[in-house]
Amino acid sequence: MMARVPVIFTVNGREAAEFVEPDALLADILRDKLELTGTRIGCNQGTCGACSVLVDGELMLSCLIPAVRMEGKTVVTIEGVASNGELDPLQRAFAEGFATQCGFCTSGMIVAAKALLDSNPAPSRDDVVEAISGNICRCTGYEPIIDAVLAAADRRNAKSA
Ligand code: FES
Ligand code: FES
Repeated sequence: MMARVPVIFTVNGREAAEFVEPDALLADILRDKLELTGTRIGCNQGTCGACSVLVDGELMLSCLIPAVRMEGKTVVTIEGVASNGELDPLQRAFAEGFATQCGFCTSGMIVAAKALLDSNPAPSRDDVVEAISGNICRCTGYEPIIDAVLAAADRRNAKSA
């Protein structure tokens, strides 16, 4: 058995300190050790986007990142998207716009959409399509998801106006 390595990082605003195997993946640590099971594992090889998280504000696939690389980093998962007990406009828009069916892709979609809106508050439809292009949805046909992201952008902008 390989020696475990200590990793201290921030997850959804709280410090996490874990001893991890050198080859442990962030997705597994989030789900199995930190019980943040909203991050889904679909393909486990970087092609479906279900495991998307933000690392220091950047969209990343947690099934591809060794957990040891998280030392000192700040991670946001779907559980950290709501703030002050209030759903994020993205979460509300997905619920109200029927942008989620089986729900398997939803965490990753919302995290990918958050990465977009945090850097581009007024995206075009093409920007949204591009931003979620790494996320596979087998149920919705994508249109309700794209509409929900655009609706959330409008809401966020109305709120901050
Ligand atoms: S589980 Fe990570 S991309 Fe599919
Ligand atoms: S809602 Fe089922 S995979 Fe997207």
